[in-house]
Amino acid sequence: MQRQNDRYLRALQCQPVDCTPVWMMRQAGRYLPEYRQLRAKAGDFMTMCKNPELACEVTLQPLRRFDLDAAIIFSDILTIPDAMGLGLYFEQGEGPKFKNPITNFNDINKLSIPDPEIELTYVMDAIRLARKELQGKVPLIGFAGSPWTLATYMIEGGSSKTFTKIKKMLYSDPASLHLLLDKLAESVALYLNAQIKAGAQSIMIFDSWGGALSHRSYLEFSLQYMHKIISLLERGTRGPSYTKDYVPVTLFTKGGGLWLDKIMQAGCDAVGVDWTVDLSTLPKENIAIQGNLDPTVLYADKVTIKNNIDLILKEFGPYNGHIFNLGHGISQDTPIESVEVLVNTVHQLSKRDHNG
Ligand code: CP3
Repeated sequence: MQRQNDRYLRALQCQPVDCTPVWMMRQAGRYLPEYRQLRAKAGDFMTMCKNPELACEVTLQPLRRFDLDAAIIFSDILTIPDAMGLGLYFEQGEGPKFKNPITNFNDINKLSIPDPEIELTYVMDAIRLARKELQGKVPLIGFAGSPWTLATYMIEGGSSKTFTKIKKMLYSDPASLHLLLDKLAESVALYLNAQIKAGAQSIMIFDSWGGALSHRSYLEFSLQYMHKIISLLERGTRGPSYTKDYVPVTLFTKGGGLWLDKIMQAGCDAVGVDWTVDLSTLPKENIAIQGNLDPTVLYADKVTIKNNIDLILKEFGPYNGHIFNLGHGISQDTPIESVEVLVNTVHQLSKRDHNG
């Protein structure tokens, strides 16, 4: 029987840890040959997400290879718009697409809020199964996309580099966009509360495209709605010392480095930071920080990877509230050996500053 590893949950509450916990965004995915094999058998990505046994298996795959301190449930942020009836599909090499994107107020007005225990029950089943299989070995992370990030996909009809359609709506018809964001915030809060009930031990909100907004628009169209979601979550109360059953929340706005002071006031326990952030400028007091290695460092040789990890760990020193992660998801062509070096180096080097 493996000893319970709760250093990730402790670090989220800035409580003493024996070394720095580490996990990777997109740790379950295409850089793993066993994922590619299973995916080839299953057919497509959404089929895997909607099958709780397969989703659970993929959640566990990276943990069998690496000494990671957390598991993240295998799913996608776009399950919510899919449940709202937009018809999510994936085109080879082109990322996500919607059959019925949102174009105007009428489309938004018609959208209903999914009942997570009905339309998204496959996610809850996967969480329940993963918790059972994990046997408390490491905590399980649940997640959702931010309303703004979900809205970009729903209005653009898929991935975008310019966000022309949604920004046009933002400036010419802000009331419609607010209605959409409000419905999404409510849907995400219900979805995350259901994930917590099903067994998610920590929650992460991915705001992948918040960084595309102006400062003022970010506060009004993205952060405000994430703040609202956090205020609606039923996750217990954090005490002055480590609170075992409390469910911490991490907010990650990619490209949000300039707004971290505001993000830190949105009721979250931790902020995710990409590789553009100067860690020396961040407060290291009662708010946890997750990040921030540039994922492309993992293409370099071992010594370079270790040196870059060392620099990040030195920025935190003995501070307990650091969760090591990449600044964004791991790339699909990352060498497996680099991941091994990453995880082991974080644990080994960070011991010098911690003694539990
Ligand atoms: O982190 C994990 O291991 C858990 C699983 C997870 C996936 N997507 C699996 C996935 C998580 C947390 C996500 C979040 C997600 N999905 C985000 C936010 C994080 C980020 O990267 O900014 C976004 C924007 C999406 C939307 C999405 N889903 C895109 C843009 C794509 C295509 C990506 C690509 O590189 O082609 C997906 C598909 C997707 N989600 C894959 C995986 C493993 C690839 C599916 C495949 O082809 O097998």
